[in-house]
Amino acid sequence: MRNAVEASLDYGKRRGGCKASVLPRRRWGCYTPSMRLKSLELDHFRIYERLRLELPPGEVCLAGANAAGKTSLLEAVYYLATARSFRFAEDRDLVRWGAQGFGLRAAALRDDEETRLALAYRSGGKTAAVDGERCPRLSSILGRLLTCCFTVEDLDTVRGAAGRRRRFLDLVLGQVSQSYTRAMGELRDCLRQRNAALRADPLDRAAVTAWDRPLSRAAARIIELRRAAVDELAAPAPQIFAEITASRHDLRLDYEGPLEETRLGAADLEEAFIELLRRRFERDRRRGCTTAGPHRDDLALRLDGNDLRRYASRGQQRLAMVALRLAEADFLHQRTGTRPIFLLDDVASELDAETTARVLPALRSRVDQLLLTALPQDVGDLSVDGTVLSIDGGRVRQ
Ligand SMILES: Nc1ncnc2c1ncn2[C@@H]1O[C@H](COP(=O)(O)OP(=O)(O)O)[C@@H](O)[C@H]1O
Ligand SMILES: [Mg+2]
Repeated sequence: MRNAVEASLDYGKRRGGCKASVLPRRRWGCYTPSMRLKSLELDHFRIYERLRLELPPGEVCLAGANAAGKTSLLEAVYYLATARSFRFAEDRDLVRWGAQGFGLRAAALRDDEETRLALAYRSGGKTAAVDGERCPRLSSILGRLLTCCFTVEDLDTVRGAAGRRRRFLDLVLGQVSQSYTRAMGELRDCLRQRNAALRADPLDRAAVTAWDRPLSRAAARIIELRRAAVDELAAPAPQIFAEITASRHDLRLDYEGPLEETRLGAADLEEAFIELLRRRFERDRRRGCTTAGPHRDDLALRLDGNDLRRYASRGQQRLAMVALRLAEADFLHQRTGTRPIFLLDDVASELDAETTARVLPALRSRVDQLLLTALPQDVGDLSVDGTVLSIDGGRVRQ
C-alpha cells in the first residue's frame, strides 16, 4: 500500500480529484480511495487478553454495557495510527494488568492494497513493523492507518490548557507529515539541551545561544506547517458547525504565538525567532527554560469572535469539537487523497438524539468506515448502516 505520508504535501503533491469537504463523493460521482480496517488483533491491551477480530466492510457498531471494553478497542485502533492513546494514558497504562507488554496488529486496506501493521510495547520501548518488516523508526508507521476520532475526552481539547490543543495539532499533522514529526523531534532535542544550558551554574551564555539557530529553524518549520494545517481546518469549520447545529454561528480557528501578528514566511520567521530568543534571554535564564516557541503556542477557537473556552456553553463547546473532528477528516482526506477511518466513541451519551441525527449523516458523507460504540439500549438511535457486534468483558461476539 502506498503510504499516505508519501502522498502528503511534504512531497509537493496533492491527490484526489475533488474537495470532499464541500463535494460529497456520492453526489458528484468523484472517486477517491478510502482506508478500511480489515482485521484487528489485540494482545494484553487494556482489558483484552487476546482478541482476533475480522471487520466486515462498512459501518461497525460495538454495542456493550459500561466497562465492556468498547473505548479500549477504539483506543487500540487509534494507537496503531498514531502510536499514542487518545485517553492521554501512558503506554504502561495500556498494558493489561499483570502482563509485561502489549501487542497490536491490523490488516488495513486502501482500496484493494493490503498493509499489515504491528506495534508492540515491552519494558519501556515501542517497536513497529509494516508488512512483517521492522521499522527503523517508530514514526515510519504513522499515517499508515489514517484515523480520526471523537471521544468523551475531546471536550478537554476545547476547555483545557493549550497543551491539549497543541496535542491535537501534533496528532493530526503527525499522520500526514514526516517533516513535521522530524521537526518536532529536533525541537524537543534543542529545547532539552538549551534548557539544561540555561540551568547550568555557572551560566555559559554561548552554550545557551549555540542552540538558538537550530531551535529557530525547527520552530519556523513547525509553525509554518501548523499554520497551514489550521488554515485548512478553519476553512470548512463554519459550514460544518452550521450543518450539525442547524444554527448560524461563526466558528473560527487561529494559530496563536508571539510571532503570529506579522505572519512572516519561513525564512523571516526563523530570523524573527532568533531575535525573540535574544530578547527573552534574561527571562529564560531566570525561569531556567525557553519561554517562547511552538511548545508554548496555542490554537485559538472562537465562536462569533468570542473565546470558545470562556464564553460558549458546554453544548456549543462539544459541537465545536465535533466540527473540528469532521474538519480533520476532510483535512486528512485532502492531504493524502484517502478517506480516513472514523472512530466515534459513545456518541449517544455525549450528544442528544437530535444532534446525533445531524452529526451522523455529516460523518457518513465523509468516511466509508465508521467504527462506533454504544450502550445496547442506545444502538437503535444510531440507525446503524452496517453491522452491530456485541462486546462484553473484553470479548466480541461476531
Ligand atoms: N490496563 C488494564 N488492564 C486491565 N483492565 C483494564 C486496564 N485498563 C482499563 N481496564 C479495564 O477495562 C475495562 C473496560 O474499559 P473501557 O474500554 O473503557 O470500557 P467501555 O468503554 O466499554 O465502558 C474497565 O473495567 C477498566 O477498568
Ligand atoms: Mg467507554
